[in-house]
Amino acid sequence: MLTAGENDLLCRVEGDAPMGQMMRRYWLPACLVEELPEPDCDPVRVRLLGEDLVAFRDSDGRVGLVAEQCPHRKASLFFGRNEEGGLRCLYHGWKFDVEGKCTDMSSEPPGSTLCEKVKHKAYPVREAGGLVWTYMGPAAEMPEFQRPIFSPREETSVSIFKIFINTNWAQGLEGGIDSAHSSSLHSTDMPAARVPGSTATGTAWARPTTDKSPRLQVQETDFGFRYAAIRRPIQNSATHDYVRVTSFVAPFHIMIPPNNVYNVYQMSVPVDDTHNIIYICAWSDSGPGVDLEAWRKFTGTQIGIDLDRTYRKIDNAANNYGQDRQWMKLGNFTGIRGFPNQDIAMQESMGPIADRTGERLGASDVAIVEFRRVMIKAVRDFMAGKKPPGHGVKAEDYPSYGSWERVVPKTTDWRGFEPYPAKQAAE
Ligand code: FES
Ligand SMILES: [Fe+2]
Repeated sequence: MLTAGENDLLCRVEGDAPMGQMMRRYWLPACLVEELPEPDCDPVRVRLLGEDLVAFRDSDGRVGLVAEQCPHRKASLFFGRNEEGGLRCLYHGWKFDVEGKCTDMSSEPPGSTLCEKVKHKAYPVREAGGLVWTYMGPAAEMPEFQRPIFSPREETSVSIFKIFINTNWAQGLEGGIDSAHSSSLHSTDMPAARVPGSTATGTAWARPTTDKSPRLQVQETDFGFRYAAIRRPIQNSATHDYVRVTSFVAPFHIMIPPNNVYNVYQMSVPVDDTHNIIYICAWSDSGPGVDLEAWRKFTGTQIGIDLDRTYRKIDNAANNYGQDRQWMKLGNFTGIRGFPNQDIAMQESMGPIADRTGERLGASDVAIVEFRRVMIKAVRDFMAGKKPPGHGVKAEDYPSYGSWERVVPKTTDWRGFEPYPAKQAAE
């Protein structure tokens, strides 16, 4: 349970809100690379931390991310012409390159120097792991860009789905570190089975346990925290535990335990105070991983079938997420297809910003409590002039980074287990 002030501190990201200002000190995902497939392709609207932007790929293949409103008289550059090295506003023809430099001002008389004086707002951009990343903070505090954890090498197999969600970012994040909900909400897609560990097929992730009330243990780290969810396994329950270790990496990254085929990585990126975009990556650095369309089919996130071209859900609150009560009578737990859709139905039903002042938390909410504690402390420290958690630290410097899952002897201390995810998935 939080006070109303703490809830605002955690959730609000627009304008001068401290959480948004802190997030600006990290590299943030702006959109998928596939949204900008080729030079001079259609521009894309991007809204991040309450700021409206336009992403485009110029004639040389470079990506730009600029303020949506033209500096002249504020028409939207989203409608602009993307050609010959820049984005040209339709209204009076001013043109900007990927760095926000004005390169043409056809509406001004010959000899005018106004073009040289106008600098449009543009953020630095990098492409890696299937995403376009940007940095929106002060230049002096920009950390060195490093490849994302889910794509340590150019060749790493990464398949990503993206969904626009009508809730605050922290609700989405809390879904990803809430181990207990998977045993209820996702019980049809993640059934119990006599398997050695989490096992992926094209239609389900089987798990070696029927235990719905995991015991949770947390450990604070430099980058956030990690936690173990410990369940009774189906086999050898007298001597063994089924342990799932998840890492939270500030400000909004979650390393979810892998299955036998791929690792799973979630980001809940704040669009503004009341919307977020979830990106979930299935990745493997030691095998083929999972094909993009198979990943989107399994998760119910195919564009044109489940999502529109802006990554908004076709089944949504307006039609009760397509919930099928007859299907429930036949044994499906939720009647909602695809585990992200089940999550989103629950998260959006909590309201645009969940009221955390009147919750009744239980033992299975330990990781949720830790997330709030870590991030509220981080943002208060940031307001007092300290660096955000993990800021500028390289991934390889974290000895306890990563996630894993396994049936282990009860004597095993999960904190000492070598966790690097790709190695775990390969074993
Ligand atoms: S508003 Fe864009 S050129 Fe005038
Ligand atoms: Fe979930």
